[in-house]
Amino acid sequence: MREKTGAPLVIGARIGDVQRVFAPRFAMDDLATDGRQFDKLLEEGATLPLGNLTIRVLHTPGHTPACVTYLIGDAAFVGDTLLMPDYGSARCDFPGGDAAMLHASIQKILALPP
Ligand SMILES: [Fe+2]
Repeated sequence: MREKTGAPLVIGARIGDVQRVFAPRFAMDDLATDGRQFDKLLEEGATLPLGNLTIRVLHTPGHTPACVTYLIGDAAFVGDTLLMPDYGSARCDFPGGDAAMLHASIQKILALPP
């Protein structure tokens, strides 16, 4: 997609925390673990243009330290943080996952306007 559209590849700023955990577990010795594979590492409050819209970033860790939610207009793209709102949240047993953080992130999402 990046090659075909020129769109930047972005991800939560703490992706390096995730890479440092998983690289040795999957014997990916040559994987850079500072997120350099991505064009932009997103911090809380970052904004990205999307046509006439703006994407606003919420840092919503817990499932992984790098999880983010994208706010676009009145929609929130929550990823795995709220995996299936009718059934529950994401797992938080990955290395770097944290149930208390996940709970706080879900509260942050649920505090958004309807
Ligand atoms: Fe996931």
